[in-house]
Amino acid sequence: MPTVLELASSRRSVRSFEERSVDLGDIIYALETARQAPSGANRQPWRFVVVTDSETKRRVREICEEVEREFHGKAPGWMKEWFRKRGIDWRKPFLEEAPALIFVFGRRTEPYWVQSVWIAVGYMLLALEERGLATVTYTPSKVGWANQLLGVPEEYVLQTILPVGYAKGAPSKPPRLPLKEIAFRERWGQPLAPG
Ligand SMILES: Cc1cc2nc3c(=O)[nH]c(=O)nc-3n(C[C@H](O)[C@H](O)[C@H](O)COP(=O)(O)O)c2cc1C
Repeated sequence: MPTVLELASSRRSVRSFEERSVDLGDIIYALETARQAPSGANRQPWRFVVVTDSETKRRVREICEEVEREFHGKAPGWMKEWFRKRGIDWRKPFLEEAPALIFVFGRRTEPYWVQSVWIAVGYMLLALEERGLATVTYTPSKVGWANQLLGVPEEYVLQTILPVGYAKGAPSKPPRLPLKEIAFRERWGQPLAPG
């Protein structure tokens, strides 16, 4: 049984998926994990819609590619370069390739709803990793369309779409900053541990 640190270390974003279908039980496991997350005043502002229908996925891809074309066109230079190095552009084939898409919505009337929803997303990422499934926290640059497409009440705001499936290829994980650069003891800049 891998530890939480092992799951967090092995997990990386995946943007290309095999055709192989996923077990609904694994998705439910990830959602069961998500619902254990803490939230502001325990209001549990997260809601999830799991989409596996090919025609809906095709439409999602079409809409997202349209909004991404505009976003990528207007992105600042440093971001364009960052995307270019990683082979990321406006095209989002993974929205159709992945056997399942988990739409994650947050109820915008609740306290700390954004923070709470993203903690639940973090829990889900680790649960999917534990089940050998891959995903990426795809955040479309426009989100209102999802309410209409999926019949979601307007007080819920799309936070991310998680395409879920088995990774195609073996994408590498970008490096992380060392602990000594990001964590301090008592005061900013003071080492956490000797050495
Ligand atoms: C809040 C958030 C939004 C993100 N949005 C996108 C996105 O829209 N498209 C994408 O391809 N990756 C997206 N990512 C994935 C990051 O690029 C990725 O996590 C980061 O480069 C580190 O790589 P890793 O996940 O492989 O460790 C997002 C990640 C986070 C946490």
